[in-house]
Amino acid sequence: MKKYNVAVVGATGAVGTKMIEMLEATTLPLNQVKLLASKRSAGKELTFKQQTLTIEELVPESFEDVDIALFSAGGSISAKFAPEAVKRGAVVIDNTSHFRMDPNVPLVVPEVNPHALKQHQGIIANPNCSTIQMMVALEPIRKVYGLERVLVSTYQAVSGAGIKAIEELKTQATAYINGTPAEELQADILPCGSDEKHFPIAFNALPQIDVFSKDDYTYEEWKMVNETKKIMEDDSIKVSATCVRIPVLSGHSESVYIEVKEAGADVAKIKELIAAASGAVLQDDPSQQLYPQALNSIGRKETFVGRIRQDLDITNGYHLWVVSDNLLKGAAWNSVQIAETLHDMDLVRV
Ligand code: A2P
Repeated sequence: MKKYNVAVVGATGAVGTKMIEMLEATTLPLNQVKLLASKRSAGKELTFKQQTLTIEELVPESFEDVDIALFSAGGSISAKFAPEAVKRGAVVIDNTSHFRMDPNVPLVVPEVNPHALKQHQGIIANPNCSTIQMMVALEPIRKVYGLERVLVSTYQAVSGAGIKAIEELKTQATAYINGTPAEELQADILPCGSDEKHFPIAFNALPQIDVFSKDDYTYEEWKMVNETKKIMEDDSIKVSATCVRIPVLSGHSESVYIEVKEAGADVAKIKELIAAASGAVLQDDPSQQLYPQALNSIGRKETFVGRIRQDLDITNGYHLWVVSDNLLKGAAWNSVQIAETLHDMDLVRV
């Protein structure tokens, strides 16, 4: 059987290091794993399955002999290097937003639309972290009752903004506890590295993830809207999002309100659908205070769903609380799961 050479681009990053962990446990037959990052990291060593691997500087030639390349080093790196990888025969699974809405690029959550992989032309996009977990929770409901509308508010962890954002939260939290007043906390990364102003995330909640578009929605919010429609292959679903960064290290939480299309749904049936769904875990027992929590999601590949209630006024309206490890199902695991699915469907061009 063919064994694959797999490259991780952005191997030193918050997502890249988790991609390496996911590859340690993958069912994918592996020959070699190549770790790529910037010049700054070249020569550093990381362990993979008790072997020491040396990080190499990313250059176009890095992809000679690579079968599958997992990218998570930022959109501009994907824009420049994913075509170089494809040119050399690799299949790219890209964790950035750069190619997601390209009609020639499948945007895939394996539990929802694995069939889209058949159309790939070398690049496959991994959806936005908040979108992925919402898809795992909503697809089992959509399949049976249809979806009229989705309103989501997110409570997103700082690790989604990379290692520097994790460090920023830790430093600010320590400084604040040790007496530094809020207005003197150093903020350089959040809410968005490329925007003008920065605000403390420690003991705060920032209703801005990514930059604002002209309509006053943020691009993170637009990602949830557009990607939902693309993955569910239905432009008629009404979707609106409010994305908020909170001082949690890992594990995104979402309050999701849905209106279903078909009659016949109720809370018990929705719970049954979630409990039976691939990749989802039902955690819903208010009498035992059982509900999904960000801390408990860390290190888990599943999406946890609970607090399922019927809306008080709208008969086809339901509320759900959806939690998942943003670095795993939201990023590294979904990417490696796409690679495993490509292999299972015989779609890796080797
Ligand atoms: P490096 O550590 O060498 O800077 P995060 O999302 O956690 O901030 O991580 C970003 C990842 O992208 C890191 O692995 C980082 O590597 C990598 N990266 C950033 N700039 C480049 C670049 N110019 N070429 C290759 N990798 C890069």
